[in-house]
Amino acid sequence: MRYFEIAKEKASRLVKNGRALILSIESSCDETAIAIVWDGREVLANEIASQVDIHALYGGVVPEIAGRLHVEALSELYRRALETAGINAADLDAVAVTFGPGLVGALITGVSFAKALSYALELPLIPVNHIEGHVSANFIAHPELEPPFVCLVASGGHSHIVNVTHYGSYELLGRTIDDAAGEAFDKVARVLDIPYPGGPLLDKLAETGDDTRYKFPAAHTPGKYDFSFSGLKTAVINQAHTIHQTGGTIEAADWAASFRKAVVDSLLNKSFMALEDTGATKFALAGGVASNILLRREAARRAEQKGIQLFVPPPKLCTDNAAMIGSAGYYRLMKGEIADMSLNAEPSIKLIEE
Ligand code: KG4
Ligand code: ZN
Repeated sequence: MRYFEIAKEKASRLVKNGRALILSIESSCDETAIAIVWDGREVLANEIASQVDIHALYGGVVPEIAGRLHVEALSELYRRALETAGINAADLDAVAVTFGPGLVGALITGVSFAKALSYALELPLIPVNHIEGHVSANFIAHPELEPPFVCLVASGGHSHIVNVTHYGSYELLGRTIDDAAGEAFDKVARVLDIPYPGGPLLDKLAETGDDTRYKFPAAHTPGKYDFSFSGLKTAVINQAHTIHQTGGTIEAADWAASFRKAVVDSLLNKSFMALEDTGATKFALAGGVASNILLRREAARRAEQKGIQLFVPPPKLCTDNAAMIGSAGYYRLMKGEIADMSLNAEPSIKLIEE
C-alpha cells in the first residue's frame, strides 16, 4: 500500500478512538521546537531551541540564518523529545507541523522534517496554522476550557481578536491594520537601546516607570475591533528622536510604561468591546505579547469587573513552542484533516479567509 493510503487508514482509526499521541514541530520564526502531546491536552515533552541570542546580534531575525539554525537543531530536539517523553518513535500516532504563516525558509525546514518523519514511520501528517497553535496553547494550560470563547492573539507577527466558535472554527472579529503589537514593542524598545527582542525587557522596565508621564496619540481604525500600532510606534520613535536632538533625555522607565499602557489599553478596549457585543463569557489571551505583565494584570482586573472568565497560558506557552502545535494538530486530526507528501510551507496563510 502507498504511504497516503496507510496514513489515511491510520487517521480514521485515531478519529474513531478519539485518541492520539502526536509529535509536533514548530519552526516558523526564530524558535525551533518539538513537542509530544497526548490527546491535544497533555504535554509529555516540550523541547525548544531558541535562536534569539544570535539574531540579537543583528537587531532582528535574519531569515537565512533562521533556516540554517532550524536544520541544525531539529534532529537533536527530536531525540530529546522522545527521551523526555520516555517513548519510542514506534509509539507515535501522528506528526503535526506548522506550515504557515511565517518565514518561508524557516517553515520549510520543519515541514520537510515532518514529511520525512511521517513517510518513514507511515504516520498521518497534520498541517497546523501557527496562529491556531497560539490559540490552542489555552487548551493545554486550561484542561477545562471548551469553545466558544473570544481570544486575543497578539504576537510579533499578528494581532487578532477571534471568536473561537468550535474547535478549529474561527470568526475574525478584529485585527491590526498595520503593525503587530509585538513588532511595535520591539521597534520602540530599540529606541531605548533595549536589545532584540525588546518586548519582554521593555515590559520589565515599564514595571518601574510612571505611565502617566508621557502622552502618546490613540490610534483610529476603520473597523470597530481593529487595531493600529504603526502611528503610535512612529509617534513614540519620532518624539524620542526630537528629545535627543534637542539635548534632552528620556526617562526610559516612564517612556516604556507610557508606551506599554497605550498598547495594552488599545488591545483590551477592543477585546472587551468584542466580548460585550458577542455576549461571550470566556476570554483567552494568546501569543508572545500575552506574557506582557500589564496585559495579564489589566485583563484580569477588567474580566473580574465584567464577570468574564479569563484564560491565560503561562509565558512559556504564550511565546512560540511546539506543544501548542500538538494541541491544534489533535483537533485538526479529529476532523480528518491530514496532508499528503505534497504539503508545502505557506508563508502568508491566514487563519480565516478575510
Ligand atoms: O508569539 P511569538 O513568540 O512569536 C510570533 O509568532 O511572533 O511572539 C514574539 C513577540 C515578540 O515581538 C516579543 O517582543 C513579544 O512577543 N513579547 C512581548 C513580551 N514577551 C514577548 N511583548 C511585550 N511584553 C512581553 N512580556
Ligand atoms: Zn508565534
